[in-house]
Order: sequence, then structure tokens, then C-alpha cells
Amino acid sequence: MRKEYRRDIIIPTAEEAKELLGKELGDQRMRLGEVMSYQPLFKKLKLATDGVHDIFHSARTLVAGGTLARWEQKNGARLRIPEIEVGLIIHDSRRKNDGYDWMHGVRAAKVARGLLAGEMLHNNLRLIELMCAWHVLPDAWTPKQIREIPEMIIFEDSDALDRQGRRGNLNLDYLRLRRSLALVNIMKSLHSKTDERRKETIDPLQIVAGEALDIGLLIQ
Ligand SMILES: [Fe+2]
Ligand SMILES: [Fe+2]
Repeated sequence: MRKEYRRDIIIPTAEEAKELLGKELGDQRMRLGEVMSYQPLFKKLKLATDGVHDIFHSARTLVAGGTLARWEQKNGARLRIPEIEVGLIIHDSRRKNDGYDWMHGVRAAKVARGLLAGEMLHNNLRLIELMCAWHVLPDAWTPKQIREIPEMIIFEDSDALDRQGRRGNLNLDYLRLRRSLALVNIMKSLHSKTDERRKETIDPLQIVAGEALDIGLLIQ
């Protein structure tokens, strides 16, 4: 449904967002193969398949982050995109429950270090740790230097974009990027299409990637 947000911003429908992505990002959209290349990491994390912060959430935030990051980069932002993607895959992997669980970000940061040490430059690993560790706390409690890291802004918007359905209501005021607002309805569509299929025995990452391709977030 088309919805007026602020006076100067109209949130596009899923269909309009697909067109917009095609026009503005075109063949620079994230590819299905890029999403699937993270399968070994997903396997290592052994993510739950039955909670609100499960493997589907992880995979959808990966698609949102991968898309948003490429879109921002196309418009001049300098970003470490793999770090955003890997961070999003890991960020909720060590939750003990679906409530606040204040320490889950710190646990995720430790997992990131354990899994990726030796594979990434120290600075890049440090960025992943920071994003994982600090994504849990309200903005008011997060140091400005961390809140304002460009990768962190994309990371947090992407996490918020999956706040749909059983995951509560997305508060549009929390989205910091204008392009995130453009993705609200297409991400809503990805959420409902993949949520309907959660009982299938197909690999959840494949389900999310397939549906994302279908609605125009990804390309082949
Ligand atoms: Fe989280
Ligand atoms: Fe999350």
C-alpha cells in the first residue's frame, strides 16, 4: 500500500521499489550467487529455524544490507560491504531468547572473532565486532562515533527493515537513510513470502534468496 510518510517522502510500493532498483542499481544489484556464497558461514553458525530472530531473519537482513550498501555505494558512499553482510548474518546468532537479551550482541561479536580471525584484516574484523556488539542498545546509549559509522547506519537500518509481521512494527522514524524508506514495502513483501514457506524442508537461505530474486531485490 502506498503511504505518505513525511511531506517530501512517499514510500514506494514493493512493485515501485523493484522498478526503482532496476533503474538506479540495475546490474549492480546484489546477485543470487553472492547471497549463496555465504552458505558455509550460515552452516557454521547453526542458526535456529523457529524463532523470530532465526535463520530467515539473518538471511533477509543480509539481502537488505547487501542491497542498501550497493545502492549507497553507487551514490558515492565508501563502504566495506562484505563486513556489513557478514555482520548481519552473525548479529543475532547467539541470542538466548527473543526478548531483549542485552548481551547477545557481545556474544555475536565473540563468535565473529572466533570464526573469522585469520581470514580478515584486523580493522575489518574490528568493524564487524563493533556492529554486532553495539546493535542491541538504544541509540541514546550508543556512542556517537559508533552510531555514525556509515556501515553501522546501513547495518541497523537493514536489521530494522525486517521488523515486520511477528517481529513487531517497524517505526519509520528509526530508519536513518532515505533509501531505506524506499525498501520498506519490498522488504515487507520478502518477509511475508518467506515466512509463509518456513515449514518447507528447503534450505532457508535458498528460500530467501529465491524469493528476493523473484521480487527484484536480487539479480541472477
Ligand atoms: Fe539483535
Ligand atoms: Fe536482528
